[in-house]
Amino acid sequence: MRTTQDQAIHLKNYKEPEYRIGTVDLDIDLHPNKTRVKSKLSVIRQKNVTKDTPLILDGDELKLISVSLNGKLLSGDDFHETQTELTIKKLPKSAKFELEIETEIDPTANTKLMGLYRSGGNYCTQCEAEGFRRITYFLDRPDVLAVYTTRLEAHKSENPVLLGNGNPVKKGSAGKGRHYAIWHDPHPKPSYLFALVGGDLGSIHKPFKTLSGRKVKLGIYVEKGKENSADYAMDALIRSMKWDENVFDCEYDLDVFNIVAVSDFNMGAMENKGLNIFNDKYVLGDPETATDAEYSNIEGIIAHEYFHNWTGNRITCRDWFQLCLKEGLTVYRDQEFSSDERSRPVKRIADVRGLKASQFPEDAGPLAHAVRPETYREINNFYTATVYQKGAELIRMLATIIGEQKFKKGIDLYFKRHDGDAATIEEFLKCFEQAAKVDLSQFALWYSQAGTPLLNVSSKYNKSKQTFILEFEQITPSTPGQKRKLPVYIPQRIGLIGSNSNDMKATKVVGAEFKDDVLHLTKRKHKVTFSGINERPVFSLNRGFTAPIEVDYRQSPSDLAFLAANDADTFSRWQAYQNYASKLLLAGYRAVLANKTMKIDAKFLDISKDTLLDESLEPAYRATILSLPSEGDLAQIIGKNVNPDAIAKSLSVLKTALGEIFEPERNKVLNSLKSSDSFNASAAEAGKRSLRSLLMAYAVASKSKSALKDVVSNYKKSNNMTDRFNALRTIVNYHPTKTARDKALADFYKRYTHPTPKPECFGVI
Ligand code: SER
Ligand code: ZN
Repeated sequence: MRTTQDQAIHLKNYKEPEYRIGTVDLDIDLHPNKTRVKSKLSVIRQKNVTKDTPLILDGDELKLISVSLNGKLLSGDDFHETQTELTIKKLPKSAKFELEIETEIDPTANTKLMGLYRSGGNYCTQCEAEGFRRITYFLDRPDVLAVYTTRLEAHKSENPVLLGNGNPVKKGSAGKGRHYAIWHDPHPKPSYLFALVGGDLGSIHKPFKTLSGRKVKLGIYVEKGKENSADYAMDALIRSMKWDENVFDCEYDLDVFNIVAVSDFNMGAMENKGLNIFNDKYVLGDPETATDAEYSNIEGIIAHEYFHNWTGNRITCRDWFQLCLKEGLTVYRDQEFSSDERSRPVKRIADVRGLKASQFPEDAGPLAHAVRPETYREINNFYTATVYQKGAELIRMLATIIGEQKFKKGIDLYFKRHDGDAATIEEFLKCFEQAAKVDLSQFALWYSQAGTPLLNVSSKYNKSKQTFILEFEQITPSTPGQKRKLPVYIPQRIGLIGSNSNDMKATKVVGAEFKDDVLHLTKRKHKVTFSGINERPVFSLNRGFTAPIEVDYRQSPSDLAFLAANDADTFSRWQAYQNYASKLLLAGYRAVLANKTMKIDAKFLDISKDTLLDESLEPAYRATILSLPSEGDLAQIIGKNVNPDAIAKSLSVLKTALGEIFEPERNKVLNSLKSSDSFNASAAEAGKRSLRSLLMAYAVASKSKSALKDVVSNYKKSNNMTDRFNALRTIVNYHPTKTARDKALADFYKRYTHPTPKPECFGVI
């Protein structure tokens, strides 16, 4: 299980550690170039391991100063040091012994941003996946859990803030302008969850009382002067903590919970125990500069890292192949949180769009890999959309297959049985098998088979027999290293919709298990017959995106229109509207290429208008459904020889038509979406902003005179980035007057030019 750059590591070769570590006492003397790290480890040899088995510790770019064993300084003959390992050869007979190691590191030179490094003059760490070995020699693997006590020392005026994992124990002066702080984390944890921060930071604090009455002091640390921009993150944290108690019965377990925002960070954020460290763009939210999408990102990522406290920290991964055990599950949990806090349908649509945009191409390309891969060379390359997003889809599918109640029973059992463990996917699934009394061996294939399954579907209605017959065939394409695939377990939430728009109930269903509107497809082919269906139904499938698959089912244009207007499932309704719009836009694209006039389908416009005026639908959902497929979506469908101008033209014609049909109702709808004068980042207000801006964009595209005026004044009077940026985009894309476009752009440039623009940061959370 040792990682070296040039050697592949295989899941099948996993071996339990021969030595474990009970406690770790760290004494870290922070210095920009010469940070001293003294580490005292209580080492425990495992049963059936002989004393001749050397202790091999991981290390990377460390300067070794000294090694002592049971208080005795070792000489060079007693250990062996390489670039990546420290091997202690002569070990005592007793199973327990104490090892003291002193190393020196250079945080300023650490530009890999792994281990201890400096960001904006502050010290911070990133230890997942293998960063701790860049701080000291250690058994740097997730299945070695230890109790850490950390003493930090630094220059007081330069680093007044000294934070560690766990609870603060003591602090004081260390003389010569230096000070120290001692932190103790009572929860055994793997080294990748270690963290420290030292710096001169501003902070905000709030108290939190857990369900059982534990008082927790919450803190968010940011660059000085930016404290006000952390209020939204604090609010999101408090809501996350309450939600996890209410929905998953997960309570926080330390006296403090700190978040630190740093400007140089490779990943989005990191769930270190009691001390989360974030890329500051996921903490700082100011109405002048943050859009609603950014607020929702902050909320989601704060929640994600907090939720790791149970799914990741209390129960961690046995090895890095099990990364999805914590990531897929935690993404699922943060998706559920955002769905409860915001609009569930809009969140689901956004997640599926994200999955299709980033994970489907991964599954279809040369980098396709299983949600739980079986081989890697460099674990950092496996923080992928497949592990995270598809991993979350598998949890969602599991909940669909066994039902919400049994899913809750299973997760409760998982928390109870594995608290304090470094677990595997098999152990996780076993909890659900026992709770739901089901066999999940076929479902487990989703973890080992890469590739997006394709489900071919055809249907036939037999009027005289009153049957509706569905034929399914699933195919998972070959992926690198996996030529032949077995059939996977595909749940399908479906609806047979009657002309009155209601789902029909069959008197009998044969050919596959069918329960609570979910078909359970387990074979390569299924022929399913629904009896007692007294009119030809419109078939709605993969409702809520039940399974992360591609579906090939030919819907007639009239069925598509019907679903776009009537499907009770908000996801499928959106999907049908999108498919319907794509068909029109592609026909328009071909017309533009042939120099012909694009035909506008009156039915599509009517459905769009009815949707806009349907106040039973949340504004955020109306805005999502009425947003047409993007240029990129259409280019992807066209595939080869894409003509972007023709796509743009086709989109503009349809937007113009929508603007015209909405025109008589526009002001009425806009009035119903009014916000108060002061900015509010809430999801409800964000939903209103998005529908308002969509309406304005279509109105300006249709050259409505009043809208041309209004959009310019909206730009000027907006009190937040979302409204201002949306107005700017509409002006730039659709305003016919060049001066209006140039003026808005110049103003925006002047307003937001930052003296030192920050480079974009890539990577998954
Ligand atoms: N463990 C981190 C996270 O996903 C990695 O960035 O939250
Ligand atoms: Zn995570």
